[in-house]
Amino acid sequence: MEIVGTCTRGFEEYSAKEAEILGCRVTELRQARIIMDGGPRCVYVLNNFSRSLNKVLLLLYRGIARDLDEIYRAASALSYGFIGKQQSFAVRSERSGVHSFTSIDIQRVVGQAIIDSRIKEDGVRLRVDLENPDVEINADLIEEELFISINTTGHGLNFREYRRYNHPSSLKPTLAASLLIMAGWDGRPLIDAFAGGGTIPIEAALFARSAPVRPSGDFMYKRLSLYDQQEEERAIKLVGPKFAVSKLLGVEISSKHIRGALKNAQAAGVSDVVELRLDDSVKFVPERKFDFLVSNPPYGIRSGRKEKVLKLYELFVKNLDNILNEGGTGLMITTEYRKLENILAQHGYKHVKTSVGLHGKLWVGAVLFRA
Ligand SMILES: C[S@@+](CC[C@H](N)C(=O)[O-])C[C@H]1O[C@@H](n2cnc3c(N)ncnc32)[C@H](O)[C@@H]1O
Repeated sequence: MEIVGTCTRGFEEYSAKEAEILGCRVTELRQARIIMDGGPRCVYVLNNFSRSLNKVLLLLYRGIARDLDEIYRAASALSYGFIGKQQSFAVRSERSGVHSFTSIDIQRVVGQAIIDSRIKEDGVRLRVDLENPDVEINADLIEEELFISINTTGHGLNFREYRRYNHPSSLKPTLAASLLIMAGWDGRPLIDAFAGGGTIPIEAALFARSAPVRPSGDFMYKRLSLYDQQEEERAIKLVGPKFAVSKLLGVEISSKHIRGALKNAQAAGVSDVVELRLDDSVKFVPERKFDFLVSNPPYGIRSGRKEKVLKLYELFVKNLDNILNEGGTGLMITTEYRKLENILAQHGYKHVKTSVGLHGKLWVGAVLFRA
């Protein structure tokens, strides 16, 4: 089976790394997607444990399609016998690139192709249910490349059940996980100096423990004929904790956000290892320095005060000597990544690499450096 994992654009290599850690063979990286080779075990394990993927899809077709006619032809040539006679289906579509049609057009055309193909195959007219389908087919067009697949996840793993408090500029938890992988975090003391709602330290604790990403276990693969509960339980049991955690600290200047972060940490069941502290990172001096810093500072976009934010970066980098051990690893993600690289260089930090990608509608750069 070919499996597609959707992920944050620009951060595909870190999702690939995570998939390999989980024992799935990655064959290719595409825009916001990783392609893997694997059986149902990978479907179970990726859905339950991958913290950087958004959806896990079973690939039915992949090829070039330039217009709606070509999309219809590709979709109607496939067999949809795996959809039970009584089951309903829906088509969802994501599109990236310039096209003369919309994703709604793709959904309509592929939906029709599925109905036509199944009538031709065995005379069954499948029922469409856009609200709560039994089977969801994804028809994603990335430039001219069409991916038709079965969604095994349901709604995206970006949504975490522990999020009780939504910080107004929260980081996607899947991206937070990618940053931890990019930093090469291995369980040693880690600080997030701009913690907001606590996403980074909470994700770190859950990543180290290999905690289930969706504890409710509400996945669409359970409605597919390939689903085997015993095989699923066996696959899940074999995934153990990654490493022990010594210290995870989130520092945040706003008491409102700290209260929210505490709620999130509690709901995630990580209050025992995640400490959250109300403080100003520009002045904060911990009792002991940290080996890792992974942070998502403000960008100054919402407040419209970019200059103020650059000043904040400058003051923070000046204080970093008090926070990060010599040889320690730092990673900061921001829209102002070029300016941040300059500030870090001026203060003697060694630039390792910057990964640029899309967070929502914003281009951000994750700057990895060493003290
Ligand atoms: C982009 S948000 C972080 C969001 C967080 N990653 C999340 O997912 O919830 C940046 C945070 O930095 C905080 N902040 C700004 N200046 C700070 C400072 N000097 N010390 C500590 N926190 C600060 C802001 O209050 C804001 O909550």
